[in-house]
Amino acid sequence: MNKTTLSIIKADIGSLGGHIKPSTPLFKKVEEFIEKEGKGIVSDYFVSHTGDDMAILFSHKHGIGSEEVHKLAWDAFLAGTEVAKSQGLYGAGQDLLKDSFSGNIRGMGPAVAEMEFVERPNEPFLFFAADKTDPGAYNLPLYLMFADPMYNSGLILSPNMAKGFKFVIMDVNHTEGDRIIELNAPEELYDIAALLRDNERFVVESVWSRETGEIAAVVSTTRLHNIAGKYTGKDDPVMLVRVQGPFPATGEALAPFNIGHYVAGFMRGSHTGPLMPVKMNSSVSYFDGPPVVCALGFCVHNGKLTEPADAFDHPYWDYIRAKVSRKATEIREQGFSGAAMLPYSELEYGGIVQKMQKLGPKFYIREKAE
Ligand code: F6R
Ligand code: MG
Ligand code: MG
Repeated sequence: MNKTTLSIIKADIGSLGGHIKPSTPLFKKVEEFIEKEGKGIVSDYFVSHTGDDMAILFSHKHGIGSEEVHKLAWDAFLAGTEVAKSQGLYGAGQDLLKDSFSGNIRGMGPAVAEMEFVERPNEPFLFFAADKTDPGAYNLPLYLMFADPMYNSGLILSPNMAKGFKFVIMDVNHTEGDRIIELNAPEELYDIAALLRDNERFVVESVWSRETGEIAAVVSTTRLHNIAGKYTGKDDPVMLVRVQGPFPATGEALAPFNIGHYVAGFMRGSHTGPLMPVKMNSSVSYFDGPPVVCALGFCVHNGKLTEPADAFDHPYWDYIRAKVSRKATEIREQGFSGAAMLPYSELEYGGIVQKMQKLGPKFYIREKAE
C-alpha cells in the first residue's frame, strides 16, 4: 500500500533576547534550506516556531526513522545555527547535542514525532508544538481526548470509536532502553490513569484505534537531560493527532486544552505552570513562560499539505488565555514555595545540588537532653 509519513522534527537553535523566539533570518534560513535541499526527498513541508523552538513538519514516503529525512532536518538546523551564531543569538545550536549526524536524529537533541499511514480520501490531522514544558504535558489532554466521554463525545455517539483506544506508554526514566507498556481504554482506564498522573516519569508515546488498528497519535518522548547528562533546555514536546472518523473530532482533540492544566517547565524548566493554548508562531514572555502549546490543523492529500488552520486563533481561546494568565499569576505568587517549584529530582539546574553539598556539613544532630 502507498503510505504517507508525517514527521515533526523540532529544535531550539537560538533565539532573540534570551529564550523568547527565533529571529526572522534564522527562521527564513531553515525554510529556504528545506525548500532547496528537500526537493526529491520530501513531498511537502511546513516550518513554524513555538516560543524558541523551530519545528519542521514533513510529509514524505520514506517511513519512520528515515535517515534521509532526519539528515535533511539536522542539516537545516545546522544551517539555522550558523545564522544564529552570526547574529549572536542566545543559545545558538542549543539542542544540537552531537557533533555529527549518525543516521537517526533521535538521541541527538531534536524532538521527533512520526507516524505512517495509508491516507484516507481526506486526511485531517493536528500538529501540536509546546514550549517551556516536557512530553508529560500531553498526558492529560491525550487521556481526555481518547478515553473520556466527558471530553470526547464520540466515545458515546460514534460507532467508529466504540472499542476505544490503545495507549502505548513509556517510562522515560529508564535510560538503558525503551521501557514500554501497552494498555487498553476503556478496560484498563484506572491503570492508564495511575501511570499518567506521573507526567515526569510515564509519557504517552502513541495511541492506536482499536476499531481499525491504525495509529491515532504520536508524541516526542525525548528527555534532553538523559542525552546530555545535564540541563540543556526543557524537552518542549511535539505531537501529531489524526482527527475525525475513527479518531476524535478536531474539537474533541482541542477541548482538553481549555483546562490550562499545570505542567512542569516555566522558568529554568524547574517550575509548575499552566499550559496556555497560543496562536502559531507565538513567543514566550512572563517568567520565561507560561508553558505554551499551539495547534495547527492540516489536511494531507497525496503527500501534499494544505495551509494550516491556526486552531487556537479564535475568540474562545482568548477567554481561556485570560484564565490561564490568572492561573499563572496565582501560582507565581508563591515563588519558590512547595508546588510552585518542581521536586528536587526534576530541577533542571545543578545549583541546588551544590548548595545542598555545601550545607550538608553544616547540619548537626542535637544532643538529647537527659
Ligand atoms: C526554560 C528556558 C529558560 C532558561 C532561563 C535561563 O526552558 O529555556 O527559562 O532556563 O532563561 O537561561 P540560561 O540558563 O540559558 O541563562
Ligand atoms: Mg530554549
Ligand atoms: Mg524551547
